[in-house]
Amino acid sequence: MLKLKRERMATTTTNANALLVAITLALLTCSPRCIYSAERRLLVGMTLVRNAPALGAFCLDGSLPAYHLHRGFGAGARNWLLQFEGGGWCNDIESCLERAKSRRGSTRYMTKWEVFSGILSNNASLNPDFYNWNRVKLRYCDGASFAGDAVFKNGTSLLYFRGQKIWEAIILDLLPKGLGQARKALLSGCSAGGLASFLHCNNFTKYLPSNASVKCLSDAGFFLDERDITSNHTMRYFVKDLVSLQGVEKNLDENCTASSLDFPELCFFPQYALKFITTPFFILNSAYDVYQFHHILVPSSADPHGHWNRCKLNPAACNPEQLNTLQEFRRDMIVAMGLFYKYSRRGGLFINSCFAHCQSESQDTWFSADSPRVHNKTIAEAVGDWYFSRRITKEIDCPYPCDTTCHNLIP
Ligand SMILES: *[C@@H]1O[C@H](CO)[C@@H](O)[C@H](O)[C@H]1NC(C)=O
Ligand SMILES: *[C@@H]1O[C@H](CO)[C@@H](O)[C@H](O)[C@H]1NC(C)=O
Ligand SMILES: *[C@@H]1O[C@H](CO)[C@@H](O)[C@H](O)[C@H]1NC(C)=O
Ligand SMILES: *[C@@H]1O[C@H](CO)[C@@H](O)[C@H](O)[C@H]1NC(C)=O
Ligand SMILES: *[C@@H]1O[C@H](CO)[C@@H](O)[C@H](O)[C@H]1NC(C)=O
Ligand SMILES: *[C@@H]1O[C@H](CO)[C@@H](O)[C@H](O)[C@H]1NC(C)=O
Ligand SMILES: *[C@@H]1O[C@H](CO)[C@@H](O)[C@H](O)[C@H]1NC(C)=O
Repeated sequence: MLKLKRERMATTTTNANALLVAITLALLTCSPRCIYSAERRLLVGMTLVRNAPALGAFCLDGSLPAYHLHRGFGAGARNWLLQFEGGGWCNDIESCLERAKSRRGSTRYMTKWEVFSGILSNNASLNPDFYNWNRVKLRYCDGASFAGDAVFKNGTSLLYFRGQKIWEAIILDLLPKGLGQARKALLSGCSAGGLASFLHCNNFTKYLPSNASVKCLSDAGFFLDERDITSNHTMRYFVKDLVSLQGVEKNLDENCTASSLDFPELCFFPQYALKFITTPFFILNSAYDVYQFHHILVPSSADPHGHWNRCKLNPAACNPEQLNTLQEFRRDMIVAMGLFYKYSRRGGLFINSCFAHCQSESQDTWFSADSPRVHNKTIAEAVGDWYFSRRITKEIDCPYPCDTTCHNLIP
């Protein structure tokens, strides 16, 4: 009945593309763990974390966790960008068992090569500020934004909810590979990975040298604690189930869970956790994030007759009442970021008005001639300006439909 209970895919599928490119085109080797396709797309090979079992870190199905590392060079050789992969969550046994048999819950089913584009690109003209850094993609296979720590076992079924351990195992694997001597670092991620970036930002900083410049970025991870169109707390219930099933609560920020919120699990929502993050943070999100629109604001359980179906597929087809609901959602998001916008001295923002979800991983939306812009800045420029303190970067777009630079990417 409830759509949110199902396994969800919240990011674009570069995997299938990677595989296609990998098998159909002539390939050039650049190092043991990377190749270029004939279109010069960078494909980076998977590294399994061999010492993960010693730390109790497993994917849902018990397989080894993994990441993809492309080495930095030149002036960026000692800088590190870590990016959490996204891909929804699973909040009950049934959906987690299903996920465990897919690329969202097991490295066994994942493509072994990933396309590195957008913020992960190694080409200066496509990724001007981070192209020569060490760039790492952390594969997502736990279903709780790398934050759970529990096991389900009943004699016939076994599920590992070990996202928190996966995070720690990957960091411990990377520290001796140079992360431990980083000069600059950025923890990033998109969707469920963007949420992981909020949840792990303070912890990340603690692993790095105290004189390193450490910052965090969330792309499409600012999931709102918002009621749906029938005033039901659909998302809040989903998160409650998720936090309880996967043993997430003990890994949430202690100062947040000890604060005066009604329920400690609310600290899974960035709007409540944000003020406890002491590392400089950048929030990149669309005010009409299509994942949130389709699953938080108008989940199918709240619209059983499908009155919103046309509007969901095309904002131009929304009626005035629906548009008004979307504008309220945007206002609520901006209010939830209000204190951060006003008072965070080292924080940055880029809240545009495009119907999209994840804008840093694909070249089109990150940095290209016709990328989305706010105040004439692309996302890559805004993030770079903030990271390197070139200017204060807190961009909030005018409301839909004023922005003509959008790439509306509706699933
Ligand atoms: C970098 O990207 C530019 C623009 O797409 C392209 O012309 C150039 O060939 C690329 N350079 C490398 C080394 O791939
Ligand atoms: C274990 O849980 C699964 C999923 O809920 C269920 O299908 C199975 O029957 C359970 N096994 C036992 C022994 O209870
Ligand atoms: C941090 O300190 C170490 C040891 O003193 C030094 O080698 C390194 O260059 C410093 N890093 C930065 C970013 O200043
Ligand atoms: C990061 O968080 C984990 C889990 O709370 C904790 O065990 C670990 O000590 C933390 N790391 C650092 C360097 O503080
Ligand atoms: C509200 O949402 C919860 C969880 O999704 C669901 O169990 C409940 O039936 C919904 N209530 C109404 C009135 O739709
Ligand atoms: C909680 O706040 C105290 C005081 O500001 C700080 O020292 C501590 O590191 C914080 N704990 C966490 C888990 O962030
Ligand atoms: C917008 O920025 C581009 C460079 O990225 C520049 O060429 C152009 O003149 C700017 N447009 C305006 C209206 O400032």
